[in-house]
Amino acid sequence: MARVWILLLSLSIVGLMKQLVLVEADLPAIYIFGDSTVDVGTNPHLSESLAQANMPFNGIDYPFSNATGRFSNGYNTADLIVRLLDKTHSRSPPPFLSLLERMANFKRDLTRGANFASGGSGILDSTGNATYRKVVPLGEQIQQFSTVRPNITIILGPDKADKLISNSLYLISVGGNDFFDYQRYNRTTMLPETFMAILLNAYATHLEDLYTLGARKFAIIGVPPIGCCPAERAVNLKLNGSDGCFDQMNDLVRAFYNETETLLTSFSSQFQGVKYSLGNAFDLTMTIINNPLVFGIKEVKTACCGNGTLNGEGRCTPLANLCRNREEYLFWDYVHPTQAVSWLAALTLYGGAQQFVTPMNFSQLAPIDI
Ligand SMILES: *[C@@H]1O[C@H](CO)[C@@H](O)[C@H](O)[C@H]1NC(C)=O
Ligand SMILES: *[C@@H]1O[C@H](CO)[C@@H](O)[C@H](O)[C@H]1NC(C)=O
Ligand SMILES: *[C@@H]1O[C@H](CO)[C@@H](O)[C@H](O)[C@H]1NC(C)=O
Ligand SMILES: *[C@@H]1O[C@H](CO)[C@@H](O)[C@H](O)[C@H]1NC(C)=O
Ligand SMILES: *[C@@H]1O[C@H](CO)[C@@H](O)[C@H](O)[C@H]1NC(C)=O
Ligand SMILES: *[C@@H]1O[C@H](CO)[C@@H](O)[C@H](O)[C@H]1NC(C)=O
Ligand SMILES: *[C@@H]1O[C@H](CO)[C@@H](O)[C@H](O)[C@H]1NC(C)=O
Ligand SMILES: *[C@@H]1O[C@H](CO)[C@@H](O)[C@H](O)[C@H]1NC(C)=O
Repeated sequence: MARVWILLLSLSIVGLMKQLVLVEADLPAIYIFGDSTVDVGTNPHLSESLAQANMPFNGIDYPFSNATGRFSNGYNTADLIVRLLDKTHSRSPPPFLSLLERMANFKRDLTRGANFASGGSGILDSTGNATYRKVVPLGEQIQQFSTVRPNITIILGPDKADKLISNSLYLISVGGNDFFDYQRYNRTTMLPETFMAILLNAYATHLEDLYTLGARKFAIIGVPPIGCCPAERAVNLKLNGSDGCFDQMNDLVRAFYNETETLLTSFSSQFQGVKYSLGNAFDLTMTIINNPLVFGIKEVKTACCGNGTLNGEGRCTPLANLCRNREEYLFWDYVHPTQAVSWLAALTLYGGAQQFVTPMNFSQLAPIDI
């Protein structure tokens, strides 16, 4: 079954080769924003931050087994989406904070994209602050992007710079940490409806800010069913003896997906030239959890690397438990997917059906000429 599914996917990708050429011509750069699902090494530059993955066994399947700061055994979803969209690159553009440090190629690098994502961060400025001491919230990531906008104009001149900015892809994967923080700090004092309204309002503001800076093509990944991650299953097991998903949390996340869809419909109708894809990471992950063997996955509850119940109670560190067959696990650590599952996600977002990515998939969004 898994083979058949993969074969079908590769066939449709071969069929897209013509389109890929177009993508290369029309997709000058990819700018990436969000949290640990797409962070490729921002947080190691934040020495105070507790949200770190730059130690083994993270990166064990990355080239040279390098623990780059990715919350994965190998590449993450951002890397693999970039690889599908642009055959000349094997991974995400580098973290913005690393470009700042090695100024030598700063200008050339910038026009090829940058990754602003920071593990532990969220849509709200306060998200991650209490738990991890220091993260770069989405708002600050956009602020950082705004500082490079003038540099691009200096390099290319105003006309070419405008064209580059409007034809580039803005990949955003964020929101999970906002729900973790709500659950941890605000649930008892704030109704979920109120929280959701605040979150959605902040998300709208961020998108409008990016629009004002010239962004037009938005590839947005929704929040996965975080109530099913090993960390939450471990809590459930202790509380009520069942290792099932934490349903209340998943219900909120699913409702937020629906509201995000409504937000994007209205955003694209109100702001001239906006094109978007919204990836349904919730349904995508649930499909794997409900039919793991179809996708070659055998373990959907226990993390590959971690400690305690379901390996969901401790981080992935050199002292943690490490599973043998990493490609058979849904979860790498207490909350993040393995590289194998990131591949499934990337392939689906890139070339999948409307059920998982709407109103068009990323391969349709990328070549649109603004
Ligand atoms: C490992 O990753 C770091 C950070 O991305 C990089 O500076 C270093 O050169 C890499 N090492 C190897 C051996 O690739
Ligand atoms: C983060 O936490 C510190 C210390 O509690 C606080 O001073 C600061 O205002 C917080 N920042 C945000 C953005 O919430
Ligand atoms: C980028 O632009 C900022 C503000 O315009 C400027 O201060 C900085 O020197 C520029 N950096 C480079 C590398 O050109
Ligand atoms: C949630 O609680 C934290 C800690 O008390 C606070 O900093 C944050 O602003 C609250 N979030 C919202 C959305 O009110
Ligand atoms: C008990 O477990 C179920 C799922 O198995 C979950 O939906 C529910 O929220 C849990 N109860 C508590 C108090 O965590
Ligand atoms: C979200 O929308 C779908 C399809 O429109 C619907 O089936 C589902 O019940 C909605 N879920 C929530 C939590 O609102
Ligand atoms: C794993 O958990 C056990 C008991 O819960 C603890 O004693 C041990 O220090 C933990 N190991 C790591 C690497 O966190
Ligand atoms: C995804 O987009 C491609 C065009 O790039 C299209 O041919 C294909 O039908 C879409 N996939 C699905 C399953 O809708």
